[in-house]
Amino acid sequence: MIQSFNKIEKISGSLTLPGDKSISHRALIFSALANGESEITNLPQSDDVKSTISCLKQLGVQIKEDTDTIKVYGKGFKGFEKPDKPLHAGNSGTTARILSGILAAQNFDSILTGDDSLSKRPMRRIIKPLGLMGARVTGSVANTLPLKFYTVDQINSITFELPFPSAQVKSSILLAGLHSDKITKVIEYNQTRDHSERMLGLDVEKHQMNTITSVSKNNYPVSQKYFVPGDISTSAFFVLLSLFTKTTNLTIKNVSLNPTRTGLLHLFREMGANINIDETGASNNEPYGDITVFTSELKNIKISKEVIASIIDEIPVLTIAGIFAEGDFEIRNAKELRVKESDRISALCYNLSLLGLNVEEFDDGFKVSGEIIRRKPVFKSFGDHRIAMAFGILSCLLDEGGKVDGFESVSVSNPGFIDQLKSIES
Ligand code: S3P
Repeated sequence: MIQSFNKIEKISGSLTLPGDKSISHRALIFSALANGESEITNLPQSDDVKSTISCLKQLGVQIKEDTDTIKVYGKGFKGFEKPDKPLHAGNSGTTARILSGILAAQNFDSILTGDDSLSKRPMRRIIKPLGLMGARVTGSVANTLPLKFYTVDQINSITFELPFPSAQVKSSILLAGLHSDKITKVIEYNQTRDHSERMLGLDVEKHQMNTITSVSKNNYPVSQKYFVPGDISTSAFFVLLSLFTKTTNLTIKNVSLNPTRTGLLHLFREMGANINIDETGASNNEPYGDITVFTSELKNIKISKEVIASIIDEIPVLTIAGIFAEGDFEIRNAKELRVKESDRISALCYNLSLLGLNVEEFDDGFKVSGEIIRRKPVFKSFGDHRIAMAFGILSCLLDEGGKVDGFESVSVSNPGFIDQLKSIES
């Protein structure tokens, strides 16, 4: 589907966004593991979250979906049932990798599959550590989905150093670690999002060089109420639009302010953005609050290697900001972008070239310079929700607007994107 966008001149008001995708997956999975009834509010109606719900249902978990609240009747320790057909994680890497940590520890066999895009994404990163924990997991010849999990009697504890920053790999190991009496430790040198640690109340030691998270059966989740704050990665698209629209006064309410997720807001401020952040509360150890954005003039700055993990999902947004900011935009040390829902380095470079910008592609990033010279582009989403939304917003900033082909992919994280956009245009 091709979606057209016209230039947006003015934005005002406030926006409340559906719940954060990363927190939602975890709230559902932890509720399913716990014994008895848990309640989740502000869960998004996104395809990725639906994939987690359907996998959990196949594992015998009863889930009652109401408009505002979801009730999950958790099965307790090792209470999942053997699924009668392969579990399908759709497009969701988080569902596949996090759920793998649990499937690896069960006393039944199971198979996990996904859509074409997910089936190309690397899984050796979880097969290896789960194998070290005594799990019996195999993937395809290329170490991709489908994954096969074989019955195990027990999971062993390990101490594992993450070879590269990944919250999905970290969480997969931590969830497998919930199935051992002994302590599993995950060491990371670049802090990645810490939702699993916060929501499970894990012991986290922060050192100068690394962060060490410990987990054991003692941390097995208990049933509780979850409130999922608004998705900060979704909010990034509206922050971007607000910064570069001439008249803006936009407040995004009750959005997640987890410090491992606010990297882009801090980077934008360093680039000259006028953004207020007001923390108003916390739920399940996850802080949230309001963000107010004003029209600003931004300058490109050097993006250090250390911040990449904290902005990994926001790089498409940052790139669009980079082409409107003063100076050339360059991002490096971001090779992980090649194995997201699309190869985001090549997707971004392709679309930026459509504008007549000078684009230099590297293995781990790219550099953009020059002026926009081609008008009315038709951008390609590459089936990737974040690429679709980033170029949708870019189109709203162009005098003659623009189009995005394959825009339906936004349903993976935010099917309400167009309605949200209309609600703040004034
Ligand atoms: C996620 C971790 C990140 C991120 C993804 C969500 C999570 O992936 O890109 O959208 O919820 O743990 P990686 O762990 O592969 O970096």
